[in-house]
Amino acid sequence: MPDAVAPNLVAAVDAARHWRDMMAMAEIGGFIDEAGHPGVNRPCLSPLDRQARRLLISWAEKAGLGVSVDRLGNLFLRHEGSAPGLAPVLTGSHMDSQPNGGRFDGIWGVIAGLEAVRALREAGVATKRPIEVVAWTNEEGGRYAPGCMGSMAYAGFAPPDTWDDVTDRDGIRWADALAEQLALEADIARRPLGVVEGQAPFAYVEAHIEQGPLLEAKEMDIGVVTGIQGSRWFVVELKGKSDHAGTTPLAMRKDAVQDMLRAINALNALMHDPKDVLRFTVASIEVQPNTSNSVAGLVRFTIDFRHPDNAVLQARGNAIEGVIQAAVRDCAVKVTERFHAVPVTFQPEVPDAVEAAARAQGLRHMRLPSGAFHDSQFMVPLCPTGMIFVPCRAGVSHHPSEYATPEALAAGARVLAQVLADLANR
Ligand code: GLV
Ligand code: MN
Ligand code: MN
Repeated sequence: MPDAVAPNLVAAVDAARHWRDMMAMAEIGGFIDEAGHPGVNRPCLSPLDRQARRLLISWAEKAGLGVSVDRLGNLFLRHEGSAPGLAPVLTGSHMDSQPNGGRFDGIWGVIAGLEAVRALREAGVATKRPIEVVAWTNEEGGRYAPGCMGSMAYAGFAPPDTWDDVTDRDGIRWADALAEQLALEADIARRPLGVVEGQAPFAYVEAHIEQGPLLEAKEMDIGVVTGIQGSRWFVVELKGKSDHAGTTPLAMRKDAVQDMLRAINALNALMHDPKDVLRFTVASIEVQPNTSNSVAGLVRFTIDFRHPDNAVLQARGNAIEGVIQAAVRDCAVKVTERFHAVPVTFQPEVPDAVEAAARAQGLRHMRLPSGAFHDSQFMVPLCPTGMIFVPCRAGVSHHPSEYATPEALAAGARVLAQVLADLANR
């Protein structure tokens, strides 16, 4: 790729339209939190998710793109290339949010893809390869765990029926919610799931807010993402016995909350990392029967464990169950792993293209790895993959105060447009 800017393409990215689209999407599931921050709660496969998808589809159709959906609900918007038989360049991200989420995580990568493709078309920049903008189903794992179901199934990382019996907090099965959504989207053309006729995408590029503080602190416009650390998710179930809180002597109890404290203390020791590279989080806890005057008979808690070094991810992750077994006093322990994404290093093609585009556009850029997981993690075995990060305020994400400026998003969309034009003409 020449290091030149494609001036008409870059100019065709419409910053005002891009921001308007982002704010229109943010209204779907939008709420104001107690501190006055405008958040988004848009669970996957919910009516709000479907409403957002319909809005996206209306924009795509207006832009002249072909729309299709696969059996996991992954939604594709296709810009045809002059050689439609060639493997497409894929770009996109996700439209679902955390329950207490922000307005930019995920959705920006989808809207940026749309804006970049519109710019290509409006600038009359021809591409040999098709470009497809994808909205992956359930990246967040907020309503249905784990996250990245759509991309995992697409990439053949897990069979598509793997999560059929996963339920949300209301007991609604994943398979049923998915079937309902597909039925309501029966008017949308269906496409096979995953790599069609052995034709993997030519490349995958995902635009995303950084969700960390580095780019802002270093006054960078663009993050050239080098790879993603590994993540493992577990659910721990501690089964004790519920009793009367006023009458049962402590020595006679099987108190699941007390054993949870022992387990978490032991896990904190296992996960201790003086370098503060390791990430260990317990953040969802279910207690039964959950009343103040009954001893807890059952506790379920989640573990989110991440590390960039696969050896550490495997060794400490595999030690979790034994450490809990050794720590608890009275409860039966069941540990289930439900997500396992190994660390990835992106192949050089996409990061190099992102860097070249940022340089050509005179944008300050740096290379950095991602601490958050993304659908791109599962694309690495399929095709050259990479990500474009833009700074977000104070690095905050998964919170209503998440914010990225209109200028930062427009800069990212311009880089994406140039990267897509570059890759789709190779
Ligand atoms: C993605 O949402 C993550 O938790 O990293
Ligand atoms: Mn995301
Ligand atoms: Mn997220």
